[in-house]
Amino acid sequence: MKTAVVTGGASGIGLGIAQRLRSDGLHVATMDLNPPVDDDLAYRADVSDPEEIAAALTAVRDRLGPVTVLVNAAGVDGFKRFQNISFPEWQRVIEVNLHGVFHTTQAVLPDMLAAGWGRIVNISSSSTHSGQPFMSHYVSAKSAVNGLTKALALELGPSGITVNAVPPGFIDTPMLRRSEEARRLGGSVEEHIQRTPVRRVGTPGDIAAACAFLISEEAGYITGQILGVNGGRNT
Ligand SMILES: NC(=O)c1ccc[n+]([C@@H]2O[C@H](COP(=O)([O-])OP(=O)(O)OC[C@H]3O[C@@H](n4cnc5c(N)ncnc54)[C@H](O)[C@@H]3O)[C@@H](O)[C@H]2O)c1
Repeated sequence: MKTAVVTGGASGIGLGIAQRLRSDGLHVATMDLNPPVDDDLAYRADVSDPEEIAAALTAVRDRLGPVTVLVNAAGVDGFKRFQNISFPEWQRVIEVNLHGVFHTTQAVLPDMLAAGWGRIVNISSSSTHSGQPFMSHYVSAKSAVNGLTKALALELGPSGITVNAVPPGFIDTPMLRRSEEARRLGGSVEEHIQRTPVRRVGTPGDIAAACAFLISEEAGYITGQILGVNGGRNT
């Protein structure tokens, strides 16, 4: 049985991915700032802290063996006019969304290299297609994640490891509802549904389905791709 790590697995998209991969028969450990207490495979780690990642990963390996599937879903958004973003605010968004992928991927990679097989899926954002006002730090970090995905795919392909990105758009999670509540969406979720080609909001399950495919054996010829899951809002 394969072992997967899902970062950001305590909420929203990461939680949906962890549930889906478990139901597909993988061992799944999650790493999150706020792990649920009732899940003994949920580990606390801040992805921007390499020591916390290393400690959690040691515990996961002891319990479940080498990790050959990694989904980087932990993320934080930010919403501020560019000229008002302080450098520490800029840095924090980059640290979590980009450096978090760096730290976690680098920590897990030895297991994949030893196995000669691995699957990495990075959850970026549809704002990398469209841009997004007042989210310049977030869009910068997520765009870099797409770039990292492409570069790593080329580097790791010869080692049997695929690396792909899924940029979600308009997925019903606590992050989206917080943005709605703070009136950052430019309309309610209901109003946005009318502007979405498939006429519904996305679910964590929609993103999880894409991840489940990308980590499957039959997706082994797919790497370095950015697979948008956004109801047709970005094409
Ligand atoms: N919801 C959407 O429409 C949408 C759109 C584009 C991109 N995304 C991306 O999808 C991913 C999941 O977002 P979501 O909507 O489920 O949000 P969410 O806020 O519901 O979940 C994010 C999870 O990440 C965890 N997290 C945050 N910072 C962390 C850190 N430093 N270390 C470890 N864990 C941390 C949080 O505790 C939380 O459990 C994020 O990367 C987000 O940027 C979401």
